[in-house]
Amino acid sequence: MNMGDRVGEFAFFDYEPGEADMASEVIEGLKGEPKQISPKYFYDQRGSELFEAITELEEYYLTRTELGLFEAHLDEVASLLGDNLCVVEYGSGSSLKIRKLLEAVTPNAYVPIDISQEHLKANAQRLYEDYPWLRVYPVCADFSQPLTLPAVTDGLRKVGFFPGSSIGNFEPSAACQFLTNVHSELGSGGALLIGVDRKKPVEILVDAYNDAKGVTAEFNLNVLSHLNARLRATFDIQQFDHDARYNEHDGCIQMFLRSRTDQVVEVDGQPVRFDLDEELHTENSYKFHPEEFLAIAAEAGFKQTRQWTDEQDWFALFLLEAL
Ligand code: TRP
Repeated sequence: MNMGDRVGEFAFFDYEPGEADMASEVIEGLKGEPKQISPKYFYDQRGSELFEAITELEEYYLTRTELGLFEAHLDEVASLLGDNLCVVEYGSGSSLKIRKLLEAVTPNAYVPIDISQEHLKANAQRLYEDYPWLRVYPVCADFSQPLTLPAVTDGLRKVGFFPGSSIGNFEPSAACQFLTNVHSELGSGGALLIGVDRKKPVEILVDAYNDAKGVTAEFNLNVLSHLNARLRATFDIQQFDHDARYNEHDGCIQMFLRSRTDQVVEVDGQPVRFDLDEELHTENSYKFHPEEFLAIAAEAGFKQTRQWTDEQDWFALFLLEAL
């Protein structure tokens, strides 16, 4: 196909995701037993930069392994998918991955969905400039909630894209709920291309979230600086340690911040006490046997078209069909 024959378009769709009341949500989590905070607060400007740095770490095999699978198999993905496509990206993240997909699949339309308006607009605009043949319809929304795709994409076969094993950052029941929403958004006959981190020897998993340079530790601790800035909190990040360990029972890496001392921190004017060694739970990253993942996907109405994995069986890329 000669892309010169196709004419692109750009339109922004603001679904106005409600700003949750950050202060009450955070304080409720900090007063819980055990203490916890939503991982969405990782991603301020600094958090996004640190996350980018994580994806380039030697120990963090996920990103390069997934990119290797793209390199090897996207042509086959493209031929399995055919034409008249609309790629729907859940979370507008690493532009490298979506670029590889758009170049291989050459869809008619591309719908990135992200809650961060600025980030979304800038990324989508840049892609439109680089691919003038593409119709680009960014949707500002919380993709963990059900939504309706813009009507301008009606008639195109939907291809969902959810890389990076982000599915593992949901609790299993929420992962199934999310995939159920995705199923109804893509419609039956739609496809989903999704990257999933596999179960593997514990040392490899633990190292991936405890890198030698301490970038993951800095990323985890940065959530406290973010709270200081946004909620006039008084966290001293020197008084907390990063910890990431594998929970065999649940099959997930769990990240914590552990208090180095007995201390009282103020958050939005309210005192929060930490005992020595008390932990604040910041994130889970579930790992899957391929069959475990496929069982969740099946419950959400998806069936496997193809599955690819790397030589070491560390990461899996699935192409699913919405039944
Ligand atoms: N989904 C990826 C993972 O679980 C990326 C990620 C999300 C991550 N939050 C993180 C990586 C926190 C390191 C630390 O690995």
